[in-house]
Amino acid sequence: MAAGSAVAVDMPELAKKNGCSACHAIDKKVVGPSWMDVAKKYKGDAGAAAKLDTKIAKGGSGVWGPMPMPASPKLTDAERKELVNFVLGLAK
Ligand code: HEC
Repeated sequence: MAAGSAVAVDMPELAKKNGCSACHAIDKKVVGPSWMDVAKKYKGDAGAAAKLDTKIAKGGSGVWGPMPMPASPKLTDAERKELVNFVLGLAK
């Protein structure tokens, strides 16, 4: 796959079901950053999975701009892990 042809992937069902796709898309900024940009930003960062896991669970702002990401307290550990793996896997 050539660089830039990132978008053969669709949002996972889990992301749609939990409303992530209302604010995120794979390849373009919506309310939140594109998940491809997130993946690129944290590529090679060994602590990224833990950071993103916390961000999804608790929410927060200031990494991409002033707009806050809401907390998703209802997601299970396994669901967050799946979402984090999906996002970080985009830039591999
Ligand atoms: C109401 C809009 C909104 C929803 C819903 C939302 N996000 Fe976000 N998300 C944001 C914003 C805004 C940011 C940027 C936050 C920042 O700058 O720190 C963000 C950032 C992120 C990041 C990068 C975090 C970082 O610290 O770099 C990830 C990963 C992410 N979101 C995943 C998700 C997942 C998974 C879901 C669904 C469970 C979700 N988002 C739902 C708005 C949203």
